[in-house]
Amino acid sequence: MDKEYAVGAYNINNLEALLAVSEAAVEEKSPAIVAVTPSAIKYGGLAYLSNLVKTAAESVPIPMSLHLDHGEDFEVVSKCVSAGFTSVMIDGSHLDFEGNIALTRKVVELAHPKGVSVEAELGRLAGVEEKTVEEKEAILTDPAAAAEFVKRTSVDALAVAVGTSHGAYKFKGEAKLDFERLKAIREKVHIPLVLHGASSVPAWIIEKATKYGAELGGAKGIPEEHIKKAISLGIAKINIDTDLRLAFTATVRKILANSPKEYDPRKILGPAKDAMKEVVKGKMHLFGSSGKA
Ligand code: G3H
Ligand code: 13P
Ligand code: ZN
Repeated sequence: MDKEYAVGAYNINNLEALLAVSEAAVEEKSPAIVAVTPSAIKYGGLAYLSNLVKTAAESVPIPMSLHLDHGEDFEVVSKCVSAGFTSVMIDGSHLDFEGNIALTRKVVELAHPKGVSVEAELGRLAGVEEKTVEEKEAILTDPAAAAEFVKRTSVDALAVAVGTSHGAYKFKGEAKLDFERLKAIREKVHIPLVLHGASSVPAWIIEKATKYGAELGGAKGIPEEHIKKAISLGIAKINIDTDLRLAFTATVRKILANSPKEYDPRKILGPAKDAMKEVVKGKMHLFGSSGKA
């Protein structure tokens, strides 16, 4: 049942990021998931963001879905279901096992009758460097618990913790994921697995941002070979936010530094959108989703 490719979920907060994803998807003939978090909703407004994404989905000849990323409670999930989201994530990873099951189950009961699919998370996203075996066991997803969680919640996709974390500073030393654990989860869990915190934090973007004044020393992401391996072990959805933020910021910095007379936002945000688009296209190649729409 393992697929040879994964679909990317790209976080957006504004029109430029959405255009970057939709233009990349069309050019790559790739399916794409557009993800918004509760804090994106706070920033852009639920109606503004959901209607922007719906307009994009209706305008492009490829499958593009609208996903709530890291829904923190029943209320935000319920608002997003009503707003027409195609899928929602309920992130009960901060709760204990039974609490996470109860909340996820409640969301599934709301979402499934409306045709909305549900992603949940078991385990906590955190780097595993300098952690003891016991500490790792407490954070990372336990394969047997994952199987029980999926059975008792009827969830459609499961985010797993195998050593990735959000943001631009994922590792101090060598990047390391627990592939053995991922393999063991895959053997026991037969729904799509999701990899959060999957940005690669490419050196060339960090160098560009740094050249124009950014201070991002120590930034480090997931090497591309690790992403490929994770896909080969059954990861079907991959979440990317940080690499888009970095591409955007590096380009805005460059333009402001090189063109001090420029004051038309489109001349600043347009190239920033193009930079994010190139990153998304690169992900579509890496994930193998190019040509799959
Ligand atoms: O988990 C996803 C993000 O990278 C954090 O996004 O700042 O919109 O909550 P946020
Ligand atoms: P990154 O911070 O690695 O891009 O991860 C994003 C993510 O997991 C969104 O849910
Ligand atoms: Zn995430």
